Amino acid sequence: MSKMRIAGRQRLSGAVKVQGAKNSALPILAAAVLTKGESVIYNCPALSDVEASLQILRWLGCRAERSGNTVLVSCDGIDRFDIPDALMRKTRSSIVFLGAVLAARGRAKLSFPGGCEIGLRPIDIHLRALKKLGAVIKERHGFLDCRAPHGLVGAEIALPFPSVGATEDIMLAACTASGTTTVINAAREPEISDLADYLNNCGAKIYGAGEGVIVIDGVESLGCCEHAVIPDRIVAATLISCAAITGSEITLQGVIHSHLGAVVSAFEDAGCVFSSHENELRVSAPQRLQAMKIVRTMPYPGFPTDAQAPLLAASTVADGTTVFIENIFENRYRHTAELVRMGAEIKTEGKFAVVEGVSRLYGASVEAGDLRGAAALIAAGLSAEGTTEVGGVRYLERGYEDFELVLTSLGADIKKL
Ligand code: UD1
Repeated sequence: MSKMRIAGRQRLSGAVKVQGAKNSALPILAAAVLTKGESVIYNCPALSDVEASLQILRWLGCRAERSGNTVLVSCDGIDRFDIPDALMRKTRSSIVFLGAVLAARGRAKLSFPGGCEIGLRPIDIHLRALKKLGAVIKERHGFLDCRAPHGLVGAEIALPFPSVGATEDIMLAACTASGTTTVINAAREPEISDLADYLNNCGAKIYGAGEGVIVIDGVESLGCCEHAVIPDRIVAATLISCAAITGSEITLQGVIHSHLGAVVSAFEDAGCVFSSHENELRVSAPQRLQAMKIVRTMPYPGFPTDAQAPLLAASTVADGTTVFIENIFENRYRHTAELVRMGAEIKTEGKFAVVEGVSRLYGASVEAGDLRGAAALIAAGLSAEGTTEVGGVRYLERGYEDFELVLTSLGADIKKL
C-alpha cells in the first residue's frame, strides 16, 4: 500500500496548470456510448476513476484509447448492455452509464452501486426520473435491469434535490428520446454544462444546462466531436488550500474563475488575497489565516462539498473558530479524526464540525478514508512541524493526477513511498 511522506513547513511558490475535471470526464465518457464515430476528448485526467470508465467502455464493445491526456473513443462497435459488478464497483459514478446504455441499447443491466466512503448515496432520484421517461426497472439481488419496451419518451421531471448524477443520467437518457424532456430543479454544476457542451457538439439539443431548468429536445442520433474537458475546480480549491495552509503565494493556470466563486470567497474570508488574469489565478496567503466563522456546503453555486475537507484542513491552523455545516453527504468528516492526531482541535456532531484553530500541526502517521479526505491530510502535512505519512493514497489517485509531482513542482518536500 502506497503512502505519501511529507516533510512539512515548506513554503510553496511558482505556477502550476490545473488538471482536467474528473467529474466532467466521467459523464462525458459515458455519453460517448450514445454517439457514432470517433470522439476526441482532450484534457482527460489520468486517474483510476477515469480508467474504470474506459474499462467499462471497452467491456461494452467500444474502443477507448488514451495517449497522454487525450482519449479517443468510438462506440460504433457497442454490443453489450450489461456491466459486471466488478467494474461497477470501481467507481461510484459508473451509475451515469445507466441512462446512456439504456438510451443506446434499449436495455441496461448493471449492479446497484450501493454506498461508499462518504455516505449511503442512494439512486432513487435517478430511477424515478428514468421511469418517467418510460423505463421499466427491475431491482433484484443487487442488480438493476432497465428496459425501455416502447422507447424512451420525453417527460417533465421535477427533482426533489438538484442531484448532479441524476441530472446527468436524465440528460443522457433524454437526448435521443422522442419528444421533449424538461428537468426542473436540475443541478447547475459546471460539469453539467460541460456534458451538455459535449452532447450538443455531437448533435444533441440541450438548452439551459447550468441553470435550474434544462430542456432537452430529443434527436434521432448523435455524431461525434472533439471536446476539451473543463479544468477541475476541486483540484484548484485543493491547491489554494495547500497555499493557504503554508502561507504561500502560488499561481494556478488554466482555471475558469467563475467556477471558483464560493471557494475564492471562503479563502478571502480567511485572509487570502486573489488576483486573476485571463485563465490564471494567483493566491497569496497571510502568515496566519483567520477563522472563516461559518462554511456551509451547498449545491453549486454554493460552496462545494468536495472542497470542504481541504478547506477544513486549512482552518485547523487559522486564528479563531470555524464552524462547518456539511449539507450534502452524511459521512464527510472522516478526515477530522486524523487531523486531530496531528494536533488539530475539532469536534464533530452530525453535519457540524467545529474547528478551533491551533498555532501549528505536528507530523503524524495518518490514514485517508476517502478521496477529498486524502487531499486534506496532504495539505495538513505540508504545514505540519516534522514528517507526516499519509496512507490510503489509492483514494487520492481517484481524483488527483500525479499530485505529489504537482506539489513538488511548487517546492513541497513530498514523496510517494
Ligand atoms: C457528484 C460528484 C461528487 C460531488 C457531488 C455533490 C461526480 C462523479 N461526483 O456526485 O464529487 O460530491 O456530485 O456535488 O460528479 N441523492 C439521493 N438520491 C439520488 C441521488 C442523490 O438521495 O438518487 C443524494 C445523495 O445521497 C447526496 C445528494 O443527493 O446526499 C447529492 O448527491 P448528487 O448530487 O447526486 O451527487 P453525485 O452525483 O453522486
